[in-house]
Amino acid sequence: MGKLALGLLLALGFAATSALSLPKYRISPRACPSFTTKPDFEVVPYLGEWFEQKTFPSPFQDHFSCVRARYSPLDDGTVEVYNVATNLDGEPEVILGYAYQANPEAEPGMLSVVFPGTPGGMYAVLDTDYVNYAAVYSCQDLGPLYLEFAWVLAREVNATQEVVDEALSKFEQFQIDISKFYDTQHPASCVYDP
Ligand SMILES: *[C@@H]1O[C@H](CO)[C@@H](O)[C@H](O)[C@H]1NC(C)=O
Repeated sequence: MGKLALGLLLALGFAATSALSLPKYRISPRACPSFTTKPDFEVVPYLGEWFEQKTFPSPFQDHFSCVRARYSPLDDGTVEVYNVATNLDGEPEVILGYAYQANPEAEPGMLSVVFPGTPGGMYAVLDTDYVNYAAVYSCQDLGPLYLEFAWVLAREVNATQEVVDEALSKFEQFQIDISKFYDTQHPASCVYDP
C-alpha cells in the first residue's frame, strides 16, 4: 500500500473499498454514533495548515509522524488537500487530493475527501474554532458493524493540552471513544515542506 498508506485523511477514501478486508480489531459491532457537524461551518477560515495532534490507529498504515494537512481554495470551488507525513523510515511522503461540501446549505460541516483512485470519504467537522483546533470525524456503517476514524487537528505544531482537551470534548459529546486516540509525534526533525 506504500504511498497510499499515508497519514491524515488518506484512509478515509480508502475505507470504502477495503472495509471488508479490514482486520477485525478495527470493526466494532455497533452502529455509528449519531453526531452533528458544526452548524455554521465556513470553509474560508478553515483553510491553511493544520497539524495532526491525535488520530485513531489505521489498519492501512503504521503510525506516521509529522503529519500536516494544508487546505487551499481551488478555482472550481472545491478545496485542495495536500498532506505531508513522515513514514517509519524517516522519509517524507505527500499526497494530493481535494475536498468538497456535499450539501453546503443543509450541512456545511460535512465534507467529502477524494484522493486519486479512491471513492470519496467522509470528513465531518464536529467543531472548530478555526484558530486553534478542529475535531474531525468519519464513520461508516457496514451492516451491523461500523468503521470510524478521527483526528484532532491544531494550528500549532504542538498544541497545548488545553487546546487538545477542547477538541477531545467535542468527540466525547457524541460518545465517541477517545481512548482510541494515539498521539501524533512532531519531533524537531520533522520536514513539512519536502
Ligand atoms: C514539538 O514537540 C517536540 C517534542 O517535545 C519537540 O521536539 C519539537 O521541537 C516541538 N516542535 C515545535 C515546533 O515546537
